[in-house]
Amino acid sequence: MDSIYGSYEKTLQCIAIRLNDMINDYVNRYLDRTGDRLYEHLSWRIKSPESMADKCRRENLPLTPRSALRDVHDAIGIRIVCLFIDDIYRNINELRRLPGCRVIREKDYISEAKPNGYRSYHLILEVTDDVPDVDGHSPGRYYAEIQLRTIAMDTWAALEHELRYKKNLRHPELISDELRRCAAELAACDVSLQTIRELIRKEDAE
Ligand code: GTP
Ligand code: MG
Repeated sequence: MDSIYGSYEKTLQCIAIRLNDMINDYVNRYLDRTGDRLYEHLSWRIKSPESMADKCRRENLPLTPRSALRDVHDAIGIRIVCLFIDDIYRNINELRRLPGCRVIREKDYISEAKPNGYRSYHLILEVTDDVPDVDGHSPGRYYAEIQLRTIAMDTWAALEHELRYKKNLRHPELISDELRRCAAELAACDVSLQTIRELIRKEDAE
């Protein structure tokens, strides 16, 4: 059977690489100007055809390239992990200005964490590309989900993700309470680290 992406898998790869390059361009310009790196690490992935098919099934969408590319917006996923909270907002400002891209949705799970404690800032970018899309638009319109977080938020999300698949826990409530508490402590640390950064900057400026 054909992949759920049909003939678009290569196009998605190319767009993800292009986005990655555009991000590194502004990151390098910022580094030259200020000496600071806007992220600690960045990773990207194309959602595997199997996970995309699972997601379409969950959302009662037909298993077609159109569902995967236009109804679902995270075939391309990019994660930008920052040292400090303010770097997240600097990245967001830059992302809004990327040529050929438009922010069509955002979820701010930083000012309002999810009930389980999850924190991150999510953007959906609409990206244009020379390759016509499933609806025949030329230039084509494609989508990418950008997740922005601090290292602390990323550590928490990785742990929570792992625990999510642990079934038959004897005290699931205790564990989710502890996770929520841990997320709040990490968030307080992020604020302290930001304050320390600002103190250091002030000393440098004196
Ligand atoms: P999905 O169907 O999962 O894409 O959810 P959504 O369309 O409601 O989008 P949302 O912005 O809430 O989440 C998108 C992605 O963020 C997920 O695929 C995860 O990578 C991440 N994410 C969201 N919530 C959580 C969470 O509670 N824990 C962890 N570890 N990751 C999360
Ligand atoms: Mg998703």
